[in-house]
Amino acid sequence: NNETIAQTIDRLGAVIPDYPQPGVVFRDLTPVFADGPALRGVVDALTAPFEGRFDYVVGVEARGFLLAAAAAYASGKGVITVRKPGKLPREVFAENYSLEYGEGTLELHRDDMPAGSRVLILDDVLATGGTLAAAARLLRKAGAEVAGFGVVLELGELGGRERLGDTPVEALVRY
Ligand code: PRP
Ligand code: ADE
Repeated sequence: NNETIAQTIDRLGAVIPDYPQPGVVFRDLTPVFADGPALRGVVDALTAPFEGRFDYVVGVEARGFLLAAAAAYASGKGVITVRKPGKLPREVFAENYSLEYGEGTLELHRDDMPAGSRVLILDDVLATGGTLAAAARLLRKAGAEVAGFGVVLELGELGGRERLGDTPVEALVRY
């Protein structure tokens, strides 16, 4: 049909008020991931603007993993994981961060890719930007060049894009 990927995301995405805490309007993309053509359309749309400009795809635990693995496979590139603390078994870099409904730490193996590698960082939602900013700090500590960020949804009023500096951000839908 003629629906754009943005229209598909808008149609399938679920909205849950007051989850996981009062005042947060949670955007749930699991129905988008569960739809075969929608998942393919999302992954293709997130990688297309960066074609030829990245050597690895980075996914942020947990929902970012789904997108990153699919995008890496589709691009013939490798996938790198930015993880919640205590999950990676070798030497890591760590960064503390806050997000819309909490705070935490993210970790990256110190030697997952050669210094100078160009990376595309993917996640499902850009809200305050705390998560993706922390992921970018980790990748830069490891000597990578962040080619761009790709997200399915940008929650514009939370100002996440402003926290990501001059690095290109591709968002398929903005609310
Ligand atoms: C969600 C989402 C992003 C982050 C965005 O992850 O998947 O990673 O929040 O918020 P921010 O822009 O305010 O930082 P969450 O930490 O809930 O983890 P999950 O993917 O494991 O559910
Ligand atoms: N991550 C941070 N804020 C979010 C929201 N409102 N919906 C889904 N994921 C999020």
